[in-house]
Amino acid sequence: MTGSKIRFGIVGTGGIANTHAAALAALGEDAEIVACCDIAADRAADFAERWGVQHHYDSARAMLDAGSLDVICVSTPHPQHAEPLVLAAERGIHGVVEKPFTATLADADRVLEAAARFGTMVSTMSQRRWFPAAQRVRQALDTGKLGAHALLGESYCEMWRDQAYYARDTWRGRWDTEGGGVLMNQAPHNIDFLLWFMGPAEEIFGYWGNLNHPYVEIEDNAVAVIRFRSGALGILKGTVSMNPERRIHGVTLVGESGATVSFDCWQVKDAERRVASGPWDVGSNDIWTIPDPAQQPVTKADAIDFSSGGLPNFHAHQLRDVVGAIRDKRPPAVTGIDGRRVVAIIEGIYESGKTGRPVKLSD
Ligand SMILES: NC(=O)c1ccc[n+]([C@@H]2O[C@H](COP(=O)([O-])OP(=O)(O)OC[C@H]3O[C@@H](n4cnc5c(N)ncnc54)[C@H](O)[C@@H]3O)[C@@H](O)[C@H]2O)c1
Repeated sequence: MTGSKIRFGIVGTGGIANTHAAALAALGEDAEIVACCDIAADRAADFAERWGVQHHYDSARAMLDAGSLDVICVSTPHPQHAEPLVLAAERGIHGVVEKPFTATLADADRVLEAAARFGTMVSTMSQRRWFPAAQRVRQALDTGKLGAHALLGESYCEMWRDQAYYARDTWRGRWDTEGGGVLMNQAPHNIDFLLWFMGPAEEIFGYWGNLNHPYVEIEDNAVAVIRFRSGALGILKGTVSMNPERRIHGVTLVGESGATVSFDCWQVKDAERRVASGPWDVGSNDIWTIPDPAQQPVTKADAIDFSSGGLPNFHAHQLRDVVGAIRDKRPPAVTGIDGRRVVAIIEGIYESGKTGRPVKLSD
């Protein structure tokens, strides 16, 4: 890619913002962070010093009004995702936002309307789509190896979160400040995989509850069944009660042809690592019954060897796509509509669990 660097501003300079910064630093001549902000001014100042960012502010509005930005990365808690994206769109600035896209569908619509009105791009983080094992599944679907489409999809998030995790930041574990539990925070990745592979969902029915985390308000377990627009069926499970955790995120798909594939993400143990640095989890295709020697699965060993493919993390793969989308004036690989569809699933399960009825979903 050529041309001047795309100028990024970071909104919210906590944990994951450092992953964005490392990713953008690795994009070299394509990107630079010119400003950052956080409502905790000292955090913004520390971040600016750590990553050599010239300007830091104590609000997104102040940062955006100062100008000189092409795009922002929003890495605030979920209920604070929408506001900076809308403010950015109003100023003609593109937006990338951490998962989930927003904490509510109403917020998602506000963001999409602003982007459409002011002609800006919006993308939501789903960096694990760039795992080679995820790409292998996408390729199998695109080349018809599963038949015309997948007819059965299973999506799972199998994690463990303890009291120390929820105590780490005051916003975690509460409906008003986190927006939800395992569905809102951990499962968006595997919900996005399911929708990416199966297409849009039409109806959902689910249950959720807090089963063994009495020290937080939000749900720690959720299950749902889904009917897709294609007529395919799906099942979804999210838990933060599995200790030790198994497959962090994943999907299993049964194709119309009968072939079955899985894509599992799991944590790399230090003893297993064969590259000096890399992401904390990788992906493999543990189930793969496609009878084509040219399309083989990514094994656990392959996944560890690839690690993050020469970039420091998978955020860098997605942010490279975002830079390309801005330069080429094309949609990003993961769109705002994709993000909204995930939020619709989450909100649909919450509503269904409350009313005991299936919920219709639409774009
Ligand atoms: N893609 C991934 O794999 C991944 C991993 C971790 C976290 N996340 C997501 O990233 C987001 C942030 O998570 P985190 O773990 O970095 O949280 P964090 O608490 O470490 O950081 C959030 C920061 O946002 C700041 N903030 C809050 N409201 C703000 C506002 N209105 N304007 C500016 N700054 C504000 C806070 O002061 C804090 O410094 C969440 O949406 C989370 O789901 C994604």
